[in-house]
Amino acid sequence: MKHLLSAADLSYEDAILVLDTAKQLAAATEQGVGKLPPLRGRTVVNLFYEDSTRTRISFEAAAKRLSADVINFSAKGSSVSKGESLKDTALTLEAMGADAVVIRHNSSGAPHRLANAGWISGGVVNAGDGTHEHPTQALLDAFTLRNHLRNGEGDLKGVNVTIVGDVLHSRVARSNVLLLNTLGAKVRLVAPPTLLPYGVEDWDCEVSYDLDASLEGSDAVMMLRVQRERMNAAYFPNAHEYSNRYGLNVTRMNRLSENAVVMHPGPMNRGMEISADVADSQRSVIVEQVANGVSVRMAVLYLILGGSESM
Ligand code: NCD
Repeated sequence: MKHLLSAADLSYEDAILVLDTAKQLAAATEQGVGKLPPLRGRTVVNLFYEDSTRTRISFEAAAKRLSADVINFSAKGSSVSKGESLKDTALTLEAMGADAVVIRHNSSGAPHRLANAGWISGGVVNAGDGTHEHPTQALLDAFTLRNHLRNGEGDLKGVNVTIVGDVLHSRVARSNVLLLNTLGAKVRLVAPPTLLPYGVEDWDCEVSYDLDASLEGSDAVMMLRVQRERMNAAYFPNAHEYSNRYGLNVTRMNRLSENAVVMHPGPMNRGMEISADVADSQRSVIVEQVANGVSVRMAVLYLILGGSESM
């Protein structure tokens, strides 16, 4: 595979290959060998048109740990604010010899355009496009689930994952539903009807409006941020009402089975979709998700930039 644009691009074998490669790279990093050499002399450009903390830093750390040269581009402060198009920005990157471009964009489909328009010759990795997809987030979530529920091996057959909250605006939810299905997990989305996307009945998952009825039997509960910056209308009466019905608090968390984990892609609205004591509890794997993000992105860059036949 040359690009990673959607979680649907990953066959079962590809997904397992990324997770296994990430596991090996994480082990090598833990042994303290310092930087690994495979991407020496290659250039990775982080092209970020939208704000990001975790994802941008994570891709940068991943590329640097593999010895790549990294160029960080953020739209703010660049010629994009002078009206430069994606095409002209892409041609500039091509002229500078980018081997891979990691792109986050507020328009759904921008990474596909970049990969398929013929403007650049390198690989393209989607780091989040609009409300569409965020495949490396789904991979790091799968990696985290596999570590906790499957001893870091194989797939997620039979694992029950409940994804809760603002599914409508979430690229994390869509990518997770796709990848979790590929890996054999069962997914249930829980949200108020106003925060479910049009056509969700065609997604490969269950849908419920009732969080309390969905806790028992979940092996993992993934809380989604309420994305106020993408909301142009009132989707629920008020914040208090939302957390009463869809927030994960300690009372609800205590109803989960013994080994179940709590996840959140970040950034969190503490007190809204997740209470502070749940976010900081023993069951929370939120900080691990961030750490695993680096290993998974190392694997993706490694495989796309020439590490394997299959990807
Ligand atoms: C998410 C994103 O940007 O899609 N965050 C992330 O990448 N870790 C989720 C969000 O913004 O709520």
